[in-house]
Amino acid sequence: MNSHQPSLSSRAKWNQRHQQRELPVAACRVLQNHRDLLPCTGLALDVACGLGGNAVLLAQAGLECEAVDISDVAVTRLNDYARSQNLSLTARQADIETNGLGLVSNLVAKQYDVITVSYFLYRPLFPALIAALKPGGLLFYQTFVSTAAGEMRGPKNSNFYLHKKELLSHFKGLEIRYYCEGPHDRNDNAAAEAELIARKPSSWNSSDGSLCSDTRSSN
Ligand SMILES: C[S@@+](CC[C@H](N)C(=O)[O-])C[C@H]1O[C@@H](n2cnc3c(N)ncnc32)[C@H](O)[C@@H]1O
Repeated sequence: MNSHQPSLSSRAKWNQRHQQRELPVAACRVLQNHRDLLPCTGLALDVACGLGGNAVLLAQAGLECEAVDISDVAVTRLNDYARSQNLSLTARQADIETNGLGLVSNLVAKQYDVITVSYFLYRPLFPALIAALKPGGLLFYQTFVSTAAGEMRGPKNSNFYLHKKELLSHFKGLEIRYYCEGPHDRNDNAAAEAELIARKPSSWNSSDGSLCSDTRSSN
């Protein structure tokens, strides 16, 4: 504990930020650059959607999109935008960290064709993300990765940085379709990021989270 004045709650902090930005916002790079991998129809989920750059892209691509975020401001603004654009997109407010299990059971029951997560890292959610993917479904994940000390130019809290290759170890049961990490533009202030696209094998056995047959990718 420190003696500074108490920080704003996460929801209030994000509400402030999401009040100020204009919509629409851009989708994360890994989704933009690989949108050709998306199915034309199906159910998608954008986790910690913020103002919904990913969610909007998914809905525009033809998917029925759900989105979740702790910020009621972001959720309201995104739903208003989706309605104005006639998009099949519904956002709802939920705290993924404290209500994780309740949310998880919903997610798992639904089974998504596509799940996106960008610039949000809550490691206990990883198994639920895998469980919530339909066999054959795709996970797009992009967020900060820690590099050499002093190179961190993203969030101040080191918990919000992946270790190198960490995503690969968490999602190793999936088929890795694409992975890269590093600084992604020439801006000296840009933090390094990891980008992952992983597919849940069609032969996934949902009862025990294993593969039914020996078709695991060699990645
Ligand atoms: C850096 S923003 C990323 C937003 C969006 N994914 C993007 O790439 O633009 C992180 C988001 O996580 C949301 N968030 C933070 N903690 C959360 C929690 N416990 N449950 C749900 N959402 C949360 C914030 O409201 C914020 O919208």
